[in-house]
Amino acid sequence: MTADELRDLYLKFFASKGHTVISSASLVPENDPTVLFTTAGMHPLVPYLIGEAHPAGSRLCNCQKCVRTGDIEEVGDPSHLTFFEMLGNWSLGDYFKEDAIAWSYEFLTSPDYLGFDPARLSVTIFEGNETVPRDDESQAIWNRLGIPDERIYALPMKDNWWGPAGQTGPCGPDTEMFIDTGKEACGDGCQPGCSCGKYFEVWNDVFMQYDKQADGTYAKLKQANVDTGMGVERTIAMLQGKANVFETELFAPILAAIEAGCDKHFDDDPETQHAFRVVADHIRSSVFILGDDRGIRPGNLGQGYVLRRLIRRSVRYAKQLGLGEVFAAPIAEAVITNYSHVYPELERNRTHIVSELTEEERRFEKTLTRGMSELEKVLERMTEHNQTMLAGRVAFKLFDTFGFPLEFTEEICGERGITIDRKGFDKAFAKHKAVSKAGADKAFKGGLADASEQTTRLHTATHLLHKALQTVLGDHVKQRGSNITADRLRFDFSHHEKMTMEEREAVEKMVNEVIRQDLPVTMEPMTIEQAREQGAMALFDAKYGEQVNVFTIGDFSKEVCGGPHVARTGELGNFRIKKEGSSSAGVRRIRAVLEFSTHD
Ligand code: SER
Repeated sequence: MTADELRDLYLKFFASKGHTVISSASLVPENDPTVLFTTAGMHPLVPYLIGEAHPAGSRLCNCQKCVRTGDIEEVGDPSHLTFFEMLGNWSLGDYFKEDAIAWSYEFLTSPDYLGFDPARLSVTIFEGNETVPRDDESQAIWNRLGIPDERIYALPMKDNWWGPAGQTGPCGPDTEMFIDTGKEACGDGCQPGCSCGKYFEVWNDVFMQYDKQADGTYAKLKQANVDTGMGVERTIAMLQGKANVFETELFAPILAAIEAGCDKHFDDDPETQHAFRVVADHIRSSVFILGDDRGIRPGNLGQGYVLRRLIRRSVRYAKQLGLGEVFAAPIAEAVITNYSHVYPELERNRTHIVSELTEEERRFEKTLTRGMSELEKVLERMTEHNQTMLAGRVAFKLFDTFGFPLEFTEEICGERGITIDRKGFDKAFAKHKAVSKAGADKAFKGGLADASEQTTRLHTATHLLHKALQTVLGDHVKQRGSNITADRLRFDFSHHEKMTMEEREAVEKMVNEVIRQDLPVTMEPMTIEQAREQGAMALFDAKYGEQVNVFTIGDFSKEVCGGPHVARTGELGNFRIKKEGSSSAGVRRIRAVLEFSTHD
């Protein structure tokens, strides 16, 4: 079975169980400051998991593009990827454990669907702790379906729990499904979750039944939801009897493009194989990030920094393989060709993808040349003084000021018998703000968006700002990104020049005028075509015929959005732009706040 067939079959199966197929959301989350990228299919659905009505109903399914870079160092092993596709089905207060588990089992084992031998299936459940009981319900359901206790493993919160880590909000136990590859167990403790590769996790059913309170206790959630995720790459590897995700048709043309650019072969030796996998994974992720309609470019902060890190890391491994100086374009072309029938945005953004990749490679080459010459000077001085340990702050300066990666410094020093003071480096690194900000997506394990009053207000203010910018600056203004915290909104939009003071004031004045008019905010579900016909502003995500929610603010603005919003603009307070600056080429960024005067 191919990935194309798997996606198709999955969505058909869940459609037959009353689910509406929705399209993949953008890789860059809208209005969620807790993460840089969409990390799971549930992520864009957060407003609906916390109570908002979804226009397409209470049973949904889709195939979602995801990026997770928390495990970037693990990439190269048989299963870790920084980009992956996740099939998922959701119950928004509709069915619960009984149906979810039974359908997972049916889809995995029925000869009409995936047809895995039930004997190869092992599952994990939540073992319980002082505050939340063991998930005996899930165990009983698996038993009834024929999975004996010997293949049901109870694990602690760190393995079998999904939801806000540390924060408040919906969360719950999950049950994960593993296929036994038939490999010899690595030892006595080998069981699902072990990293030796015997057990391959393919699916996770999350049962959001609790609401974590500020005092750390778990209340019962009003609307119990199901959120499941099946990894496309992992599942087809298992279906095709492959030991790892790189041997499937999703990677074959990408690996072939790498092979065409160097003298090595994928299976020469483990080290070469590892480098092939890293280059394939990182270029594939970079293509999807660049290919998203949000127009992300390599940079020093946020998504741009993650992208830069992926590209630069792939350069390091490309050098190990002996690929040429500017090597990425043909590999990226292979990714685009292999995926465009499923993700047409890649074809649409082909030029942007290839040119940005190539430009970043060139920039990095320059950085490397400069860093090399700086390092050579340092090493010369060290040799003169018979020193064998490079100071951490020097290694950090190379990294910070010259952009020279620590791995390169380590490698070159290693060749000359010089060690690096890692402690000193780490200390200097900890102070580096930009990097810690960019690492924000590491902290995510199901963090749920903030739906407090203040973020809701800012959300509505964002619609007003969007419309006011279009009116003042022109129709070329399009939303390129939005990020809201309780304190401020941040809005990226296409526009080529710095805004003048007059333009800023005109925008502020227009927004405040609409607030003063106390216009009603209403919501209406409709198809994306109807929304466009009515002139609603919409991003590119929705597919033909898809149901969306359109928020209308008086006669001022109409926009497709997930919400939540205030009921009337009068609730917003005074709108003020705090900063306007460049975000990337052709994209401007505004930070703005809502102020509440204490005088009236
Ligand atoms: N959110 C869960 C996961 O990512 C299930 O989709 O595993």
